Amino acid sequence: MRRPFIAGNWKMNMDRASAIELAAGVAKATADLEDVDVAVCPPSIYLDAVVSATKGSEVGVGGQNMYHEPKGAFTGEISSAMLLDIGCQYVILGHSERRHIFGETDADINKKVKVALEVGLTPIVCVGETLPERESGETLNVIRTQFDGSLAGLSDDDMKKIVIAYEPVWAIGTGKTATPQQAEEVHLDLRKIMESCYNSEIAESVRIQYGGSVKPDNAAELLGQPNIDGALVGGASLKVDDFMGIIAGAK
Ligand code: 13P
Repeated sequence: MRRPFIAGNWKMNMDRASAIELAAGVAKATADLEDVDVAVCPPSIYLDAVVSATKGSEVGVGGQNMYHEPKGAFTGEISSAMLLDIGCQYVILGHSERRHIFGETDADINKKVKVALEVGLTPIVCVGETLPERESGETLNVIRTQFDGSLAGLSDDDMKKIVIAYEPVWAIGTGKTATPQQAEEVHLDLRKIMESCYNSEIAESVRIQYGGSVKPDNAAELLGQPNIDGALVGGASLKVDDFMGIIAGAK
């Protein structure tokens, strides 16, 4: 059985006080939660404060990005070791905003994935097609290319530690959610890819989150699909009640 995993991607939102309040609110609200993994991914500048605010709780903390080099003259970047040092368990890699706004390629993401695994962070690796790609029937090809490129060269043991997030670009921040059937089709396809590249044990055990306008009122139906194991939540992770409403949909 795959344990549901709900993660909040706060993106470039919040100030210090509201980040602490939100993190503490999620920690409190999840105190009695069982059988669901929960994480929050604040802007890197608030990671320290959020790790403190969630200390002793079941809430994990993740970075939204990192650089693949271990240290040195890379102005503005943070390393995998820094994320680990500050108390993160997770790092989101290859988010569509990183791919499309900042030009990250599958090869860039692949380097980051390997380095994150080396230090013991769990990468949440994002894949997803744009609207023109979906409309031209390219969705499954795009997902396959992103999977092959971003996750190239991983051993079986490494692959078992990955979380995949399927986030159709056209559904992110738009209020347009993929239908449960559209999402399930891609999740099932990802499982088939893992089975052909690795084996059925890995295909069955790797968790695949869905992301893109997940809200309390659509979470249960999405999360009820056999191959959807969780959610990567943007806007609705910025309010404790909304985030908890989505977590409730995973139970
Ligand atoms: P929204 O939930 O705001 O659509 O964002 C999804 C997302 O990009 C999470 O990483």
